[in-house]
Amino acid sequence: MCGIVGAVRNSDASGFLLEGLRRLEYRGYDSAGVVIINQDGDLERARTVGKVAELEHALNQAPLMGMTGIAHTRWATHGGVTEPNAHPHICNGTLALVCNGIVENHETLRQKQHEAGLAFTSQTDTEVVVHQVYLHLQKGLDLADAVRATMKELEGSFALAVVHAGEPDRLVAARQGPPLLLGRTDDESFIASDINALLPVTRQYQVLENGDVVDLRGANCLIKDRTGVVVDRLVRTSSQSGDSADLGEYRHFMQKEIHEQPRAVADTLEGRLRGDQVLEDSFGREATRIFDATRQVCIIACGTSYHAGLVARHWLEYVGVPCEVEVASEYRYRRHASREGTLVVTISQSGETADTLAALEEAKRQGVAGSLVVCNVPESSLVRESDLAFMTHCGPEIGVASTKTFVSAMTGLLLLALALSRRRGFDSGFEAHVVHQIRTLPAALESALGMETAIANMAQAFGDKQNALFLGRGAHFPIAMEGALKLKEISYIHAEAYAAGELKHGPLALVDERMPVVAVAPNDLLIEKLKSNLEEVRARGGRLYLFADPASGLIESEDVQVLHVAPVDSAIAPIIYTVPLQLLSYHVALIKGTDVDKPRNLAKSVTVE
Ligand code: AGP
Repeated sequence: MCGIVGAVRNSDASGFLLEGLRRLEYRGYDSAGVVIINQDGDLERARTVGKVAELEHALNQAPLMGMTGIAHTRWATHGGVTEPNAHPHICNGTLALVCNGIVENHETLRQKQHEAGLAFTSQTDTEVVVHQVYLHLQKGLDLADAVRATMKELEGSFALAVVHAGEPDRLVAARQGPPLLLGRTDDESFIASDINALLPVTRQYQVLENGDVVDLRGANCLIKDRTGVVVDRLVRTSSQSGDSADLGEYRHFMQKEIHEQPRAVADTLEGRLRGDQVLEDSFGREATRIFDATRQVCIIACGTSYHAGLVARHWLEYVGVPCEVEVASEYRYRRHASREGTLVVTISQSGETADTLAALEEAKRQGVAGSLVVCNVPESSLVRESDLAFMTHCGPEIGVASTKTFVSAMTGLLLLALALSRRRGFDSGFEAHVVHQIRTLPAALESALGMETAIANMAQAFGDKQNALFLGRGAHFPIAMEGALKLKEISYIHAEAYAAGELKHGPLALVDERMPVVAVAPNDLLIEKLKSNLEEVRARGGRLYLFADPASGLIESEDVQVLHVAPVDSAIAPIIYTVPLQLLSYHVALIKGTDVDKPRNLAKSVTVE
């Protein structure tokens, strides 16, 4: 989602700004732009629709040079994907601003600004913000004070950065919602939406808090809170690698990340198991106390992370822990009957999902025994806001479609179920059995990756399809949901998942010889039930594409294609059966020729609601 970078340097800032935008590309965007204050003290702007490479091309044709600048990747919310709507927005030729988020009262402000004689060149809510700062400057306020005054008038959730032609060594930035980080070296200062953009210049950073306004003047940076009081924010050191991500032998980051899963899960498990046991401090220092107080679990997440939560419910309920799983965007606006002893668990690869953050805040307001996040980004907001954190340690995920973070999050949630099982009377033999299975995960994932060639062949059947159904039962219903989401996201084929037993209650009407039906069929307690459901599909002429345990008894025929998944214990089967569905969607997307790593309209880090 939108990304901001800015710099006050003592040499040309354009290289840093462009590299910063490249490093924020993975978040998802549809246009990009930059403003630099040149040596004559004028604002110079370049904006392009499409990839950062387009902007780079434009800058190669007409370079911008200057020591202070701001840049932005835009993910359209208000107004179409056009160059006039791309940021930075400029008012009066002197003031330039970029913004991430949504300003809810933009219509009211726009009306007043019209009346004040200001003209608009875009349909965005951001242009209203730059006008508002300008109006305060006109009243004689200093730039930082003008930004603070503007923040008080804006409703919504946003982060912004602004430069003024009259003050070429200065940049002012502010946060009221989406994250904004400040980085400094001995004589320069930088802002960015996430740490990836700062890494080429520094690992040290400060996280602005809501209401903060920071005034950057080279090495001198002053942070004031919403009341105008000077504050200091903790200086953190990033543990992330500064290397820009490298595709290696792979065609896409998604393919690379699917293949990294054995290593990612091994890294997730590193230091988390001792002998036959899960180490509780993998979840944080307070884990034992909070787990002792836990009577039930409420999992809150979005998208793929929500699917990980749905799988975890099966594990938690198996060990006797009541569990509900909530979509964050719904949870945050619903009335709740809070229950004593609830451990609220958020799941988020980015740690920045606005709905999940707001839902966590709402859950904490209700009163909880504790909060735990399962997350891949140590420096993220959800990690900071939670009592406990289980870090998945799978390295940066660049593909917008989550893959390795999904299997690693499920692995972490299985460890959580084991940690809580001890308090539900499950003996050490049970934990030892599951831990043994967990240790086989990297090898079992590797074995599932060996199916790729066969899956690429299977994918041919989907090249001309507009729709697909995905079926599963029990803990594999969420895996089918995830398979359908992956196919939708990257191949743009309409795909829906159903609990296989639900077919006859409606979706069976969709089935005919043109409808591919994908099912995951591990050899578990529900296999015979699933087989009956699959027969219902065959009887209506549906085409079946099955990922099945060899012992399931499912056999190939003209209308049934079966690919065998090596036998796995049911405790870890959902994690393993994820892989063939990821590979299927990837190979269908290759056939469709879509932008696999940056699918249209989507963002990696969803920082607006
Ligand atoms: C996953 O492929 C999707 N891009 C999306 O559903 C994602 O899982 C969702 O937006 C939640 O993101 P998070 O894990 O960063 O919170």
